[in-house]
Amino acid sequence: DWNMPDYIGEAVQKIREQVGSDEVILGLSGGVDSSVAAALIHRAIGDQLTCVFVDHGLLRKDEGKMVMDMFSKNLGVKVLRIDAEDQFMGHLAGVTDPEQKRKIIGREFVEVFQAEAKKLTNAKWLAQGTIYPDVIESAGKGKKGQTIKSHHNVGGLPETLNLKLLEPLRELFKDEVRKLGVALGLPHDMVYRHPFPGPGLGVRILGEVKKEYADLLREADAIFIEELRNTPFELPAVAGIDPGKAPVNWYEATSQAFAVFLPVKSVGVMGDGRTYEYVVALRAVQTLDFMTAQWAHLPHSLLGKVSNRIINEVRGLNRVVYDISGKPPATIEWE
Ligand code: XMP
Repeated sequence: DWNMPDYIGEAVQKIREQVGSDEVILGLSGGVDSSVAAALIHRAIGDQLTCVFVDHGLLRKDEGKMVMDMFSKNLGVKVLRIDAEDQFMGHLAGVTDPEQKRKIIGREFVEVFQAEAKKLTNAKWLAQGTIYPDVIESAGKGKKGQTIKSHHNVGGLPETLNLKLLEPLRELFKDEVRKLGVALGLPHDMVYRHPFPGPGLGVRILGEVKKEYADLLREADAIFIEELRNTPFELPAVAGIDPGKAPVNWYEATSQAFAVFLPVKSVGVMGDGRTYEYVVALRAVQTLDFMTAQWAHLPHSLLGKVSNRIINEVRGLNRVVYDISGKPPATIEWE
């Protein structure tokens, strides 16, 4: 339990000593960890830091703009946004296997990042938002044996790029990273966001990934999240929630919530006409550690409103279902 300004002071000092006048690159994903790492390193060394933000076309609605506004406009961080949507979609065309999709997204991410990093010829350091639980998790690999889902990260990059690793969050737990982020001036809503997987919407579009599907999913997902944020939380106790800090809305009352695109069509009726369109599933869970999770008992009125809005506002979707599977046996993501 440390005092935040003191902690920032020490961390900044340490980063300055470590990198001196060298240049540093960092892969910004829009997630909490890389964002806080970027803000901290920027506080320490300013323009010696360059962030590379790879937009793989599998981000949520307005996410790319939000990242650029927050870092480039508000904090004055140097950020290169790489629009790689066509490249990712091209490589994902025709691929339906979940693990194969993850591998492709991970590989292309490394490729795009590496190509950009090579252009920054003065860079000596690769910064990463590795936090303490990641350190523990990778130390434990092999012992546990089977990987259920291969997680996307940028492992292997420092070697090929011949860069030294800078990991200023290595000793911190998630809640400490969040507090640090707020103290560094990142918006509260950003820092307390639900986790988002590296492969992004790629694992939330079942089977083959297409831009058309990603566009429909982005709209549906944004409506779901907006309604969760706008619906006050009223129930007394919910598993997975720290009792010391009562959630104010259903977004805060869930650990992770999102829409999933199902590439199947079903029949519907709208006005005088028959429709034959795609389905989305809503997923919302409560968990402490993401290893096990319960489906969230969202109010029926909230589910009803989200369903109506999605079907009325998103042309191309005519059916919404709610996922009531726990983990285990289901996983949180559908792929
Ligand atoms: P599952 O679906 O395995 O997810 O129950 C557990 C947590 O991990 C996240 N997740 C990922 N995060 N890369 C990531 O960075 C991935 O490939 C990945 N797959 C799952 C998931 O969102 C949930 O929070």
